[in-house]
Amino acid sequence: MCGIVGYIGAKQAQQILLEGLSKLEYRGYDSAGLAIYNGEVIQIEKTKGRLKDLADRLSVSELTGHIGIGHTRWATHGKPSDQNAHPHTDPETRFAVVHNGIIENYMELREELTAKGYHFVSETDTEVIAKLLADVDDGDLVSTVQKAVSHLTGAFALGVINQAEPDKLVAVRFASPLVVGVGKGENFIASDIPAILKYTRDVYVLEDGEMAVLTEDQVHLMKTDGTPVKRKTMRVTWDMETAEKGGYDHFMLKEIHEQPQAIRDTLSGRLKDGLVDLSGEISLLPQEIFQIDRIQIVACGTAYHAGLIGKYVFEKFTRLPVEVEIASEYRYRNPIITDRTLVIVISQSGETADTLAALREAQKSGAKVLAITNVVGSSVAREANEVITTWAGPEIAVASTKAYTTQLIALYLLATYFAQVLGTKDENECREVVKSLQQLPVQVEKTFDCETEIKELASKIADHEHLFYLGRGLDHAVALEGSLKMKELSYIHSEAYAAGELKHGPLALIEEGIPVISLATQESIFEKMISNIQEVKARGAYVVGIAKEDNTELQKTVDQVIYIPPIIDLLVPVLTVVPLQLLSYYTCLERGFDVDKPRNLAKSVTVE
Ligand code: F6R
Repeated sequence: MCGIVGYIGAKQAQQILLEGLSKLEYRGYDSAGLAIYNGEVIQIEKTKGRLKDLADRLSVSELTGHIGIGHTRWATHGKPSDQNAHPHTDPETRFAVVHNGIIENYMELREELTAKGYHFVSETDTEVIAKLLADVDDGDLVSTVQKAVSHLTGAFALGVINQAEPDKLVAVRFASPLVVGVGKGENFIASDIPAILKYTRDVYVLEDGEMAVLTEDQVHLMKTDGTPVKRKTMRVTWDMETAEKGGYDHFMLKEIHEQPQAIRDTLSGRLKDGLVDLSGEISLLPQEIFQIDRIQIVACGTAYHAGLIGKYVFEKFTRLPVEVEIASEYRYRNPIITDRTLVIVISQSGETADTLAALREAQKSGAKVLAITNVVGSSVAREANEVITTWAGPEIAVASTKAYTTQLIALYLLATYFAQVLGTKDENECREVVKSLQQLPVQVEKTFDCETEIKELASKIADHEHLFYLGRGLDHAVALEGSLKMKELSYIHSEAYAAGELKHGPLALIEEGIPVISLATQESIFEKMISNIQEVKARGAYVVGIAKEDNTELQKTVDQVIYIPPIIDLLVPVLTVVPLQLLSYYTCLERGFDVDKPRNLAKSVTVE
């Protein structure tokens, strides 16, 4: 996820910007750059690589000046390279821009601007903003930025400087975070508070559709239509470590709470006229999609669990047979692959050794590989034939949370897109799914209402050595993920079972008081699930049910129900996983273990 900083004041900007960027390193980045006005011109220094690489360059040619912007780039449009690094400029370097987010209509704008004679030097969506600023320039920086922004759709936070008005720094926010730091004789912008905490604790947190105009001594807030905004600054009392976690105690909790935004970002630019449109992103032609006679989904761990949901969705929507396999098994078992097989690999990091090997194995056998990954430019992204990026942003906690939910979103989008192309689902049904996908961010937000109840539940189960998770259908796939989270964080032995399978063996393990988390959200199999719950209840289990808000039946059978907001059954996993993530988080805390770094585990498993 990109990071933005900006400075205007009496001090030299370079060091302040570099220090600010170093505090945003946790967001993940692949290149970095600065733009500083030196009294005559805007100077730019940028490079692929780490901040150290940028600092090395600056030690040779220092940028002097009192106003500037800086950026760490997490590649979205175009690979990590010097050209794609920010800041971007217009041809005469009158404007310099840093950007975090995605401009959805950048292709359209790029074509329009190219037709007007603008020459693009990068592959980024950001460069269109710089050229657009030059194109609509009316001699006044604020109104020029307002005009340019009115042409943009998508999510963005911007920092802009202009050679003609070097006493102003302009910032804009639309759905990507941006804060303004208010100092004495100096002011700042940043994607996150840690970048400016050394200099000031008084901040404005910009809201969507707002902009800030900073001079050395003043900050003016307004909407992008010019309406003034009156707000008091907020006093930040966090220490640096808390600030890096956005005020949360751990990265995992922060990432759980980032899911609504991550889902919004992953949907962004992929829905058009009420349907899914991936035509600009994947190059598979309709006739190639028609050629596919089976799908294999290959992944590890949490990503594998996302794949299990993918199987349900793809089979339901496309009637194509789907196998889901653990990558470390797939790569060694000589799987049946033909040139009509589509292999979907899922990997948050894009660097998991087994997943990468499975990808190569599939390609060797003639299959096309489509990757769902969170890291642009990762090995998986580079080697796959097609890529759908999840826009979860960097996941720092070892236990995967927002990567999983965005992997689900990518799978829902892909399956719906295939169904539209193949005509295997009625268009109205596809529209219904799209509508429900758009409701998800708000419904996930509402799901957080259960957090206090989950905390109490965690204290109840924390002393147990064994736990069960039960579900049928999609609920079973989510139960597996909930159980994995519990194992890796709390070190409690936990098992997830397809509820109907229990009586074929594991029922023997159910004894008095054992906690059983039972997901019962799927209407078509609800009665069956109730029968299975009764089986464990009869053996003395403490049963916690998870159901949709409108379900009044489950509470009659179980000891306690956690409710999730309403959504169509197919999309329920995106909501039910949230209480399970929270339960493992709080149980881990109860047991006194390291949430963000569970024992024996690594974030990216690059060895077999
Ligand atoms: C569990 C977890 C792991 C990963 C697995 C695959 O919380 O994070 O199970 O899902 O190691 O990693 P990626 O998705 O990077 O291939």
